[in-house]
Amino acid sequence: MFGHVPLLANPTFADYLEDYGKGGLRAGDFGAIDNLARLYWFTVEFGLMKTADGLRIYGAGILSSPGETVFSLEDASPNRIEFDLKRVMKTLYRVDDYQQTYFVIESIEKLFKETYADFAPLYKELTADKQTFGLDEIAPGDTVITRGTQGYAKSKGKSAVAF
Ligand SMILES: [Fe+2]
Repeated sequence: MFGHVPLLANPTFADYLEDYGKGGLRAGDFGAIDNLARLYWFTVEFGLMKTADGLRIYGAGILSSPGETVFSLEDASPNRIEFDLKRVMKTLYRVDDYQQTYFVIESIEKLFKETYADFAPLYKELTADKQTFGLDEIAPGDTVITRGTQGYAKSKGKSAVAF
């Protein structure tokens, strides 16, 4: 019942995911698949949302893990940073363990508004400068909600494969 199922039961969100597929083809034309994949990762899979009752999870990748469900909201280790489209598209992620950074968005409306856009100008910029931010990096201009201790990642003592 967790993972992608709850949000896919919402037709608007289901359409949104279908459009990601089309967006993927388009990103390929610009050599920007990595950038779009990072956006997908940090929203649909690992996104957090700010609510009146505190932080909540909407990312299915988090929700499919009981451990990360608690970790992403409550642990002191990860950074929690306000969502910024360009910043997210430049941020490396790991697929082998809990995330070291989560991005927090204000609302599902904001997610749709910011990501239902023509990314062509942005792709041109991103593929020209090729800048990336590391797994635990705080970037200039970030609005930091929680600066993580990274204690969990350090305790694992191995370097992550980052995408
Ligand atoms: Fe998934």
